[in-house]
Amino acid sequence: MVRYFLLFLLISTFSCKEKPTVVEVVPEKVTFNYSEKFRPQYHFSPPEKWMNDPNGLVYHNGIYHLFYQFYPEDIVWGPMHWGHATSKDLIHWEHKPIALYPDEIGDIFSGSAVVDVDNTSGFGSKENPALVAIFTYHLMAGEKAGRKDFQTQGIAYSLDNGDTWVKYENNPVIGNDGIKDFRDPKVMWHAESSQWILTLVAGDHAKFYGSPNLKDWKLLSEFGKEQGAHGGVWECPDLFKLKVEGTDEEKWVLLVSINPGAPNGGSGTQYFVGDFDGETFRSDQKEHKWIDTGRDNYAGVTYNNTPTNERIFIGWMSNWDYAMKTPTEVWRSSMTLPRTMSLHKNKEDFFLKNYPVAAIDQIASEKVPSTMISLEEPYVFKTENLNKTELVFQTNLSAPLNISFSNKGGEHFSFEMNPATKELLFDRTQAGLSNFEERFAGTVQKAAYETGDREVEVRLFLDASSVEVFVDKGTYVFTNQLFPQNPYTELQISGEKDARLNNFRINQLKSIWHNE
Ligand code: FRU
Repeated sequence: MVRYFLLFLLISTFSCKEKPTVVEVVPEKVTFNYSEKFRPQYHFSPPEKWMNDPNGLVYHNGIYHLFYQFYPEDIVWGPMHWGHATSKDLIHWEHKPIALYPDEIGDIFSGSAVVDVDNTSGFGSKENPALVAIFTYHLMAGEKAGRKDFQTQGIAYSLDNGDTWVKYENNPVIGNDGIKDFRDPKVMWHAESSQWILTLVAGDHAKFYGSPNLKDWKLLSEFGKEQGAHGGVWECPDLFKLKVEGTDEEKWVLLVSINPGAPNGGSGTQYFVGDFDGETFRSDQKEHKWIDTGRDNYAGVTYNNTPTNERIFIGWMSNWDYAMKTPTEVWRSSMTLPRTMSLHKNKEDFFLKNYPVAAIDQIASEKVPSTMISLEEPYVFKTENLNKTELVFQTNLSAPLNISFSNKGGEHFSFEMNPATKELLFDRTQAGLSNFEERFAGTVQKAAYETGDREVEVRLFLDASSVEVFVDKGTYVFTNQLFPQNPYTELQISGEKDARLNNFRINQLKSIWHNE
């Protein structure tokens, strides 16, 4: 931050004539020290100002990059830049200078990044492959003038592992002939057809392009006009291959965010499982599928080039229904925990799980060591502050269960499994501040689930302004923001008289921003 501030001071000193030319060293601003009210302690959030989608998720030379939609002037959405942070373990993050600034072609909307290992673009060399970012240019003036071609796709490259970027001189690489919503390119190398594949969205469907060099793109096919949920515009697609767990079968997965139209309102992310042959994506999936039925997991995409071939996902932990109004002051919004995606098959049905990466365990220490809890009486745990809590146990899927957190002011939220109605319920209607936007508290969130006489894991992560619940290792997920006026201090779990919670643990999580 000191670096940013000095840079700012230098620029403002030399660009304004009345100012003295002496650069003073000013102590670091103390306003964004990651101790502010509601500041997430083990989730990524920008030091200050507005953030939305994760962008350019790519691993290169020991570093996980996280670029993000960033407006450095305000805590509401504005002309988009790519903010940048890096991590060695996906848990601890280092802030980097802004990677991409708007230019005369437009603001920098969402996109992806690849490592051009074979130097197909000619930007780098085989010894020092370029990182290439592929993003949407959004020309605000064009939009204001009522044109329909204001979104185009551009590229930029970095030869120093993301520290500095050069925009390609012949941008845009994909022009627009009149599609109003035309954005969010996600690129990957498709080994089988030896080409780069770019997936983007065009309003109500996805388009696939192929390229030998990241500069010249050819439209290959389209998908989705007649499939999937269509309650809103399609955004932030991602196409990748996964092995079906426990088999050798491989399938392709297409993630598509949609706003509005999510199952519990506003923004959400649907997915399709199918096949991709280097040209066309096909899926015979009939029903809509969602990676998360909470309200706050949007625009999520996965990492390219990970060292272990793991499919790691990060989502933006907010919802366009109220994203610009949430009650934080210095920064706005954070990312979900990084999650591993895996593909499973149940009879003929494919489904995705998303579950926190194992590295999260490094910041966890025991608070309540492993024990068995009988629910003859509700289980109650009270402490001063439950903000950095992980709760995990095994329970029978067919037993009813209610987990609730509350504070002294009577604010509370709950997660419930109701096998009688075959519903999972998440209630944040009284969780804390909500008057900033009516749709925030909303109604109780619901998702259908398959019951059965089977032990599954329930795992929950509570941070200063969010909760993530994972049932059965990420088969069912609820991600939600919460703004309690005081920290929750009491956990209560109730169920049936003869119900048991096995291997019950409560962990304390360390802040990733402060030494603890
Ligand atoms: C999704 C989105 C993208 C767009 C970006 C603009 O949240 O609307 O479609 O590229 O945000 O910030």
